[in-house]
This record gives sequence, structure tokens and C-alpha cells, in this order.
Amino acid sequence: MRIDILTLFPDMFTGFLEGSLLGAAREKGLVEIRLVDIRDFAEGPHRQVDDRPFGGGPGMLLMPGPVVSSIEHVQGEAQQAGHVILFTPGGRRLDQALVEELAGRERLVLVCGRYEGFDARVAETVGAEEISIGDYVLSGGEVAAMVVVDAVARLLPGVLGHEESARQDSFSGRDRLVEGPQYTRPREFRGLHVPEVLLSGDHRRIEAWRHEQAVAATRRRATATPTPGMSRRSDP
Ligand SMILES: C[S@@+](CC[C@H](N)C(=O)[O-])C[C@H]1O[C@@H](n2cnc3c(N)ncnc32)[C@H](O)[C@@H]1O
Repeated sequence: MRIDILTLFPDMFTGFLEGSLLGAAREKGLVEIRLVDIRDFAEGPHRQVDDRPFGGGPGMLLMPGPVVSSIEHVQGEAQQAGHVILFTPGGRRLDQALVEELAGRERLVLVCGRYEGFDARVAETVGAEEISIGDYVLSGGEVAAMVVVDAVARLLPGVLGHEESARQDSFSGRDRLVEGPQYTRPREFRGLHVPEVLLSGDHRRIEAWRHEQAVAATRRRATATPTPGMSRRSDP
């Protein structure tokens, strides 16, 4: 897979891309990641990339010109066009199903916003998908791009030493259950014991226990998470 990351702050990615899992995946040629500085596509002596919003309002918006030119530049570098993603807080919410969908693509072009975000004509011009990593506001799309790269890369064949672990992780598989409790040595820690079933060597019982725990953990999580946009009756 090839991933182009378009950003005004390419230096933010240095340590991240060299990190253990991703660094090794890049070295093995399982994923190719390129950084593009949007400012390289700005015009004029000041290489301006942002301007005030029409209609007024606080802050600055990214001008469409440099963003669209940088996208068109990377799209022109390969025969197959990449799937373009603009990071916006109001976009489609990232979850494991969407991560799996993205991992199935040959090429991704991730565009990181800054300031008050993108001019609306960027998405229209390049036919981008808008993605949010959650209902909160970051100061830039770089962290969101790192989240997507990390989550997608670990699903690519050969990246995790142990393919089965990605299939068994939380939110994966048909049921999309979260993982139940896991234990390692020692068998007793500060008076807390590893459940007996995990030491039994009986794989069927272990499997059944794990499934039960995953269902319970998923239920607990569902009841603890309020539905977005819904308020309880007792709320003022
Ligand atoms: C300060 S934010 C802009 C917020 C925008 N004015 C709004 O209210 O929706 C700057 C940039 O950070 C990125 N960003 C912020 N929150 C994000 C989120 N939850 N998911 C993905 N990207 C986000 C986007 O690229 C955005 O253009």
C-alpha cells in the first residue's frame, strides 16, 4: 500500500514513521509512506496557505489552491489514483470497520487540516471523503493521520508477526466485541489471582470463557457510553 500524507508540518511525523511496527513495515516494503509539504504548492513570495473566511468569523482557513495542487501532484505520481481523505471533526467517524475498508485500498492520500480547516471547495474539487477520529477538536489533522496510518498498517498482511492477533483484537471479527481481561505471569499479583480456567489447559473452556468475558465487556461499554447527541431526561 502507498500512503501520501499532505501536511504543513511534515516534521511531526519523523519519530512516528520510524517507530517499531511501522518502521519495520516500511523497511520490508509492505507500506510506502510519503510526506508532502502543502506549503511547497503555495504561490507568492510569502507562500501563503491561509486566509480569512468570507462572511467573517474567527481564525483563518486553508486556501483551496495549495491544498488541491498538492493533492493533484501526488495523484499524478502514480497510475492509480489514491482515495483522498480530508480530516475534519465533522466527517465520517473512524471505527474498525472503516479502518478495514481503508486497509483494503491500494493507495490513500491523507490531507491534514490546520487553523479553522479547509475551504469547502477542496472536497468538491478532488472528490474527497471526510473523516473524523472522534467528537472533539484537535489543532491539526496530523494526529488524526497518525491514528489512521497506525490502525491501517497493522492490518496489512505481514505487518504484525502474528496475523491472528489482529483478527482477535477488540472491534474485529463478525461480532465486533471488545476484548475481555487478559493475564500474564505471575499467577498471583498483590493477592489477585489469574482465573483458574486460564490455567486449566482446556482450550474449549478457555474459548468459551473468553467469549463470555468479551460479551460482558462489550455490554458494560455500551451502557457506559451515552449515545451522541442524546441527553438524559434528568439533564437540564
Ligand atoms: C482546529 S481544527 C478546525 C475545526 C473546525 N473549525 C471545526 O469547527 O470543525 C483544525 C484541523 O484539525 C483537524 N482536526 C481537528 N479535529 C479533528 C478530528 N476530530 N478528527 C480529524 N481531524 C480533526 C482537521 O484537519 C481540521 O481542519
